[in-house]
Amino acid sequence: MFWDKLKLFFDSTMFAPHGICLQWEPELLAVHIASDTIIALSYFSIPFALTYFVSKRRDVEFGWVFWAFAVFIMACGLTHVMSIYTLWVPAYGLEGVVKLVTAIASISTAILLWPLIPHLLKVPSPAELRQTKAMLEAEGLQRREAEARLNHAQKMEAIGQLTGGVAHDFNNLLMVISGNLEIAERTLHRWSDNSRDKLSKLITRARDGASRASTLTQRLLSFARKQPFNTKVIDVNALVAGMADFFKRALGENIALEIEGTSGLWHTETDPHQFEAALLNLVVNAKDAMPAGGNLVVKTGNIEIDASYAKTSPDAREGQYVLIAVSDNGTGMDPQIRERAFEPFFSTKETGHGTGLGLSQVYGFTRQSGGFAEIHSEPGMGTTVKLFLPRTHNALATAERDTNAGKNLRGDGQWILVVEDDEDVRNFVTETLTDYNYQVVEAANAEEAARAFAGREDDIELLLTDVVMPGKNGRALSEELRELNSELKVIFMTGYSRDLIVHDGRLDPGVELLQKPITQHDLASKIWNTLR
Ligand SMILES: Nc1ncnc2c1ncn2[C@@H]1O[C@H](COP(=O)(O)OP(=O)(O)OP(=O)(O)O)[C@@H](O)[C@H]1O
Ligand SMILES: [Mg+2]
Repeated sequence: MFWDKLKLFFDSTMFAPHGICLQWEPELLAVHIASDTIIALSYFSIPFALTYFVSKRRDVEFGWVFWAFAVFIMACGLTHVMSIYTLWVPAYGLEGVVKLVTAIASISTAILLWPLIPHLLKVPSPAELRQTKAMLEAEGLQRREAEARLNHAQKMEAIGQLTGGVAHDFNNLLMVISGNLEIAERTLHRWSDNSRDKLSKLITRARDGASRASTLTQRLLSFARKQPFNTKVIDVNALVAGMADFFKRALGENIALEIEGTSGLWHTETDPHQFEAALLNLVVNAKDAMPAGGNLVVKTGNIEIDASYAKTSPDAREGQYVLIAVSDNGTGMDPQIRERAFEPFFSTKETGHGTGLGLSQVYGFTRQSGGFAEIHSEPGMGTTVKLFLPRTHNALATAERDTNAGKNLRGDGQWILVVEDDEDVRNFVTETLTDYNYQVVEAANAEEAARAFAGREDDIELLLTDVVMPGKNGRALSEELRELNSELKVIFMTGYSRDLIVHDGRLDPGVELLQKPITQHDLASKIWNTLR
């Protein structure tokens, strides 16, 4: 019964094709066929586009809506194909089924779409997205500006601390110097039998003050990496061994010193005096950290820093290094102190007991040597400071001693041209040279010096010049005068000489350098060596 009905439903023999209704009018047929074809093809292409979109954008929510749309539109396309088919074949049963499927697909899509609308409305529009993006960017900018302000504030605080520290320490030292000189002056006015002894004591104290001030500036320059660096290839083991006795005396009886020098230690190229100063600073720190006694170990070794290690520390670079580790089992540092320990003027010691420049010198020294320094410390366990100095393949320097100690350094009346813009320094140098039996031509700047030199090229044997002066600098002056007399010897005097003489923090080869402050002996000794 059902089957008969179904057969009847799909039986097309008893109906006339739809074309008959159009009286087979060719124009009418053409319009219907063309329109239905175009609509069907367009409908079919839409599901492909939707499928492609959903497969590419897997993150898109409501993906099933697209599938529902695809089925619905595909069905719509089919109804138009059926319209063309039924022009010739009266398959109205089949057409009805296709329409039914389309109806089901369209009604379910339409019903399902409504509850979705509120969710769809929540999806941000491109304009909203742009606005959010702009907001995020503005926020990022604000954060970066705030960070920059904070950095600046921290920097200002550090500079403040630094300037304050320098001013404070210098003030004290200047007081020592000027106070003692003042008393000396008064003693001179009230001359009596024991005045000579008193004067001598006062002058010694003033000189002590000056020498402490000079150490302070050296350590500051060292931290700033502006210290003229007199590099030599050094054997660290030999230098450490040479300081062992001194360390033992400095450490006293309660602290045991152990030195473990690795054999076959690589060489490094650095300023040996600065190296000794750094080591001494570490030993003194260790001593202070072990008031009740303990053990101090100085170890040396070869170490290769690889890329992964280099990432762990901001200053570390890949390469081969000579390692010097100074370890104590004293108080140690908590993380806050450890972080700030390299800062200039950072000290936990009582006022007057520490300048806070010891580790800054160590830090500056290692950086200027091309290496880096690390602090490993645990409160109550002790501290290890490691210095990494880059390996060199250059040959070891031969030992150089002050062979002029105790010698008579008087000159033979040679002419020296002294160029210095600071009058006090110039007077001191001139007086010293006259004392040592040299003849002096003075100039306050390069232009004056060039005028004084003209016509006396053959008399003047040595140019002793400051480096940084108003107008032309000492280096340019020396080049100019050497054009006139290529035999002219040159010694530069400098407090610090950033770029003019020192390149990459190192001395140019063949340049004689006297580092300020200069003592009479240093001056006479350097001139003696140069004029020999
Ligand atoms: N071996 C150590 N053990 C424990 N703390 C240390 C050690 N070395 C340094 N510190 C800490 O780091 C701070 C800074 O050391 P730094 O050598 O720069 O200055 P200082 O020793 O205080 O003064 P200065 O060396 O100028 O006399 C010290 O005050 C101390 O708190
Ligand atoms: Mg110290």
